[in-house]
Amino acid sequence: MATTLNDITSSISKVPALPQIVVKLMEMLQDPETSASNIENLIQKEPGLAAQVLKLVNSAFYAMASPIGDVKRAVTILGFREINNIVVANSVGKAFKGMKMANNFDMMTFWRHSLVNACVTRFMAEQSKKNVEGDAFTLGLLHDIGKLLMSVYAPEETVKIIALAEEEEISFIEAESKIIDTNHAEVGAWLAEKWKMPTSICDSIRNHHNPDHYEKHVLTASTHFGNYIASVKKMRCDGSFEQMPLNPNVWSILGLKRESLRTVLDQVKNEIQAAESMLSAM
Ligand SMILES: [Fe+2]
Ligand SMILES: [Fe+2]
Repeated sequence: MATTLNDITSSISKVPALPQIVVKLMEMLQDPETSASNIENLIQKEPGLAAQVLKLVNSAFYAMASPIGDVKRAVTILGFREINNIVVANSVGKAFKGMKMANNFDMMTFWRHSLVNACVTRFMAEQSKKNVEGDAFTLGLLHDIGKLLMSVYAPEETVKIIALAEEEEISFIEAESKIIDTNHAEVGAWLAEKWKMPTSICDSIRNHHNPDHYEKHVLTASTHFGNYIASVKKMRCDGSFEQMPLNPNVWSILGLKRESLRTVLDQVKNEIQAAESMLSAM
């Protein structure tokens, strides 16, 4: 019998923990009274995080005239939202650090794809000028997190899925449907629920390959666009070998014109650079 969601999740003895700092920071960002000093104090408590924030603010992307060595200044320059993004990326990275993965799954490729998707999802959600529920960057970062979890807890299946996708030049999700009775979208949503992520994020993760869903939800549509850009720019995840088509209905759900593809492609270059600088600071 093929592997089910329950087979995978029940083999997880200890769910990778999302560090408390993310929860704390999310709370702090809701509070209008929060200052750059409060955020700095929180960052200083988390080992290695201050160094990462400084590395990011001093990366080529921000092109500072002189090096920034003060975390509070870095917080002011980057803004609270960017700080939130780096904390989430750092924490998710940490939750999986040192874990043994399927041998054909490359962690770096995975994070590059996830960060590019996160930056593009955020950009497209903003472009739509629609009120989106939940954080677009977090969704983009976590949309494929199920692949990471499967790579750790179902490594044999993951090896087979990636090999089949490569052999038949099909997508990861298509290969999954031929080998197991679940998929990375379901597994990822399961983890996001365990992490008590907002319902909108869990739903979008579960449905990020489901056109019926992204034709109705701006957040999921933005992530679909992020996957399209990652595919065009050859920043795919391991196990995705096909050139992914863009669902044409995405334009209307995002409230954008199809003709703006060129402009959007031009603008997302900046988002890709932002993702690269975050990756190098990780
Ligand atoms: Fe996916
Ligand atoms: Fe993806």
